[in-house]
Amino acid sequence: MGITKESFVEHLQQDLAAEWAAVHRYVLQAARCTGPEGEVVRQLFLKEAREELEHAQFLAELIIDLGSQPTGECASFEVGQDLTQMLQINLDQELQDTQRYLQRAEEAEDLGMEDLEIHFEQMAADEADHARTLRRLLGKTRQLN
Ligand SMILES: [Fe+2]
Ligand SMILES: [Fe+2]
Repeated sequence: MGITKESFVEHLQQDLAAEWAAVHRYVLQAARCTGPEGEVVRQLFLKEAREELEHAQFLAELIIDLGSQPTGECASFEVGQDLTQMLQINLDQELQDTQRYLQRAEEAEDLGMEDLEIHFEQMAADEADHARTLRRLLGKTRQLN
């Protein structure tokens, strides 16, 4: 059975709350990256914060287009105590966000909104790129089956 427009919009509201959380998380983490040794990661976190903000802007406009009011609520989030924890929290979150947008692409397809399907696939690719960068910073390799 296909998804209803109402459930789709509810999922978009959850996506938006998660994007607000991601913007907050990356900005707060960037602020904690001090000194010359923290500068590279600081710049990376700020770049990701800007990309999450673009996702939030897209979702807010889409929710308006679909006839609802976008949420200003932010999902709960962790910042982490040290660099490794911050990177791990972000990696876990980016992998979840990748799945979130792949699911949203399928829902858009169910609703016959092909343009949105493609856009959500691109957002999933953005989040997967974030995950890949974080995985490399953690010095991890990709686990293949
Ligand atoms: Fe995002
Ligand atoms: Fe991301």
